[in-house]
Amino acid sequence: MSRGARSARRRSSRARVSGSRAAWSTKWATAASPKSRSTPHTASAAWSGTPAAVRADLLADVVGEVLGAGAGTGANLPHYRHPQRVVLTEPDAAMRRHLAARPDRCAVPAEVVPAVAEELPFADESFDVVVATLAFCSVADPARAASEIRRVLRPDGRLVVLEHVAATGRRRERQDRWDRAWSRLFASCHLTRDTVRTLKDAGFAVADVHRLPPAFKADPTAPMVTGTARRQTADVR
Ligand SMILES: C[S@@+](CC[C@H](N)C(=O)[O-])C[C@H]1O[C@@H](n2cnc3c(N)ncnc32)[C@H](O)[C@@H]1O
Repeated sequence: MSRGARSARRRSSRARVSGSRAAWSTKWATAASPKSRSTPHTASAAWSGTPAAVRADLLADVVGEVLGAGAGTGANLPHYRHPQRVVLTEPDAAMRRHLAARPDRCAVPAEVVPAVAEELPFADESFDVVVATLAFCSVADPARAASEIRRVLRPDGRLVVLEHVAATGRRRERQDRWDRAWSRLFASCHLTRDTVRTLKDAGFAVADVHRLPPAFKADPTAPMVTGTARRQTADVR
């Protein structure tokens, strides 16, 4: 291949990656628009709707004392409909500033706490619900984060997740090839985390696992899954 053709191919490949990156971050990491907030909270909204509709559906029945782990820019905040208390942990200072800047997005004022999920500064059994959306892909030690989250949940509490996880087959091969670069590009986000397995290994009973359709054919973050991990069933066993 000539030098010119090689450089054109590199340019086109860069354009594809940056296009995917924009599509991914626009699709999942932005806050809900007022319009999307009014989306009906039904299962069909989750599968045919926007990412905001998926979040709305997932979080519609989140009540009590809620911990949002790795809260990012606070995209979940408008979807907590009847929380009693909302605490957000976020290790990144810029994200925390973003969270603090828009307290009106949540039904109750959210407390923002600097912390990693692997070391939560809360007493055992402090929360009714922990929400982790697109967080297990980014934490340094998923097993430790799962165990910490389980520790701070009340016995009848639950962890609600929305996470992109490792695929199988050719998609997985692609994820393996891209993971290193992806993680550098996207602040330590990993494509190959087996989060459902991690939660089960930490003692959670995982249920209601649903796979969302890929955003586009070669979506490196597919499959994206939603699910609920209960703390109590594993203790009862
Ligand atoms: C892809 S963003 C997702 C943000 C948000 N949860 C959402 O659903 O849009 C990943 C977040 O995890 C945070 N994070 C990275 N390492 C973490 C850790 N060890 N513990 C908790 N959060 C972490 C990042 O700062 C970032 O805010």
